[in-house]
Amino acid sequence: MIFLAPMQGYTDFFFRNAYSRHFSGIDKSIAPFIPSGLGEQIKHRRIQDLWKENNEAMPVDPQVLGKSAREISPIANYLYDYGYDTLNINMGCPIASIRKKIRGAGILAYPEMVEMLLEKLFNDLPNKISLKIRLGNESADEIKELLPVFNQFPLKELIIHPRIGTQMYDGTVNLETFAWCVKNAKAPIVYSGDIFDLDSFNRLKNRFPTIEHWMLGRGVLFSPFLPEIIKRQETDWVENELARFWLFHAELVNQICTHRERPNNQLNKLKEYWRYFSQAFENSESYFYQLSRASDIENFIKLTDEIREKATWRAGLKPKQKFAFIKSL
Ligand SMILES: Cc1cc2nc3c(=O)[nH]c(=O)nc-3n(C[C@H](O)[C@H](O)[C@H](O)COP(=O)(O)O)c2cc1C
Repeated sequence: MIFLAPMQGYTDFFFRNAYSRHFSGIDKSIAPFIPSGLGEQIKHRRIQDLWKENNEAMPVDPQVLGKSAREISPIANYLYDYGYDTLNINMGCPIASIRKKIRGAGILAYPEMVEMLLEKLFNDLPNKISLKIRLGNESADEIKELLPVFNQFPLKELIIHPRIGTQMYDGTVNLETFAWCVKNAKAPIVYSGDIFDLDSFNRLKNRFPTIEHWMLGRGVLFSPFLPEIIKRQETDWVENELARFWLFHAELVNQICTHRERPNNQLNKLKEYWRYFSQAFENSESYFYQLSRASDIENFIKLTDEIREKATWRAGLKPKQKFAFIKSL
């Protein structure tokens, strides 16, 4: 099964819908996290990304970010009553300000807190629970203490991005420690990290033959064809089907313009997507530079039309730039 990774600011419902209309290959997605908070009333608008009418095309599990059952339970109950039976808890967000507050990957440094949290959630909530984790906050050794804690609970899935919190997205994934997790975890594992082309997927699949679930994130933004490439185990058909990328793009533009009111917001959002999309083309830097200077949507669309006319597609690329923008989330 292929999961679409949650990517705050990218894989919202309008992306998921535009994607489903023009591509297949994704079986299920986890929505970007909803922050949980203490003592506030939950407004329906807060879960707009999860409204049923916004999610007819692709199955989705909600994700929340929080450090205690007091924070998480109200939104968990709300989502359950609304119709979501599974809740994913974010224990992997690497943003420093979030980790400092013992949320995201920050909580991984405190196995006894994780244990208390899971005990409360499993006792109090009707939701099935899955976790999205890294190997630790500051050290991959942290997982050695955490996994016995996770193993005490009937987790629906344990999604592992095998980096540590302080690493952000730098360096490489730690496959030795991930192998230890595969050997020792009781819950079904979902692998997440650095699958950008058919080769990287097949290498991982060969190394971890027991893993049945794979999560794709940035790879889908670099090439939305990737899930289908993996399922078909072939790449050479993509060249002939590039028109689908442009239909998807037109729909995404449309969705962004419908759901974001301010023209500046719309333009900035599109520029952020093109940070990724541009890398599927030769001369990606030059295209991204031109697009990043677009002054309005009309100008932006004109530039993407030019790219469609003259750019050469290249499949499956490693990310080049630092993802500094996620530090500002
Ligand atoms: C811009 C961005 C936003 C992300 N937002 C989330 C999020 O909301 N929740 C989460 O659990 N992981 C989030 N992630 C992590 C991804 O889900 C994924 O685990 C990570 O990018 C590694 O997979 P990849 O190499 O396939 O992208 C985010 C990653 C990026 C790059």
